Amino acid sequence: MDEVAQGVAFVDGRFRPVGEARISVLDMALTKGDSTYDVVHVWKGRFYRLDSHLDRFQASMNALRLDPGLTRRQIEDVLHECVSRAGLRDAYVSMTCTRGRTTVPGSRDIRNARNGFYAFAVPFVWITTPEQQEHGASLWISSRPRIAPESVDPAVKNYHWLDIQMAQFEAYDHDAQLVVLRDQSGGITEGAGYNIFAFVDDRWVTPKNGVLGGITRQSVIELLAEDGVALDEGHLSADAVLRATEVVVTSTAGGVMPVTEVNGRPVGSGRPGPHTRRLRDRYWARHGDDRWSTPVRPSRPMQLPEVFD
Ligand SMILES: Cc1ncc(COP(=O)(O)O)c(C=O)c1O
Repeated sequence: MDEVAQGVAFVDGRFRPVGEARISVLDMALTKGDSTYDVVHVWKGRFYRLDSHLDRFQASMNALRLDPGLTRRQIEDVLHECVSRAGLRDAYVSMTCTRGRTTVPGSRDIRNARNGFYAFAVPFVWITTPEQQEHGASLWISSRPRIAPESVDPAVKNYHWLDIQMAQFEAYDHDAQLVVLRDQSGGITEGAGYNIFAFVDDRWVTPKNGVLGGITRQSVIELLAEDGVALDEGHLSADAVLRATEVVVTSTAGGVMPVTEVNGRPVGSGRPGPHTRRLRDRYWARHGDDRWSTPVRPSRPMQLPEVFD
């Protein structure tokens, strides 16, 4: 595979093969975990809900007082450019705004930091592959609580993942592929890059608080409303997940993904159920629909602000 087909990144105002992209070891994104990001995907040459992702990215930057030094339009252009330069039809496209480093030597005053921005497009990333989705994935309900939302707001997409990473190891130790974490009162929240829905007592239930407002989650909420299927956005207990006849996790990195085993026990029949199959089909059908998707533009020269010169 040639270098560019593995992905293209935009760092320090320049496009380069993703394998050559670097950020400073002094960037507070690394030393303090101080950054926010968003991930959108491209499917068959079209961005899915790019506007929703750009809105969420802007809201996250506002919440963390970060400024990428680029307008929304410029960020959008950078994302198109990364995908078209990489020549990818199906892509995972990530954008990050970092705290950067202070411009005053020796100062720790974060108000002096010059924030950074980078983005990249790489081949599509699947949390569970389409083949795995035919049979469904296994899920573990972790004993490790999710970091409190009052401390790190999960609605602001972030890389504070040590709780999630360690919970993921716990899942692997129990031969499960996926993991979800509970909040301090035992309610299910979310997992390693996905939201969760459980079909229990004739309705879908998905946690409302302590989670990222996933764009895939939002798509599922809309699809259920269109179909007139009942949904409770609220508390989801571990017991409900264990009783559910269908369970899915939702993410930009894979869409609507069936779960057919929870804590070693089969979900329903142990096969992806009819509600899940319909949701999954309808989710992917939206990707060719102009209301939800936009074609990737061919590569073109870009105007960038002087800060990137
Ligand atoms: C913690 C967390 N929850 C949920 C999601 C799903 O969000 P989306 O559907 O917008 O990809 C993600 C996405 O990466 C995530 O990191």
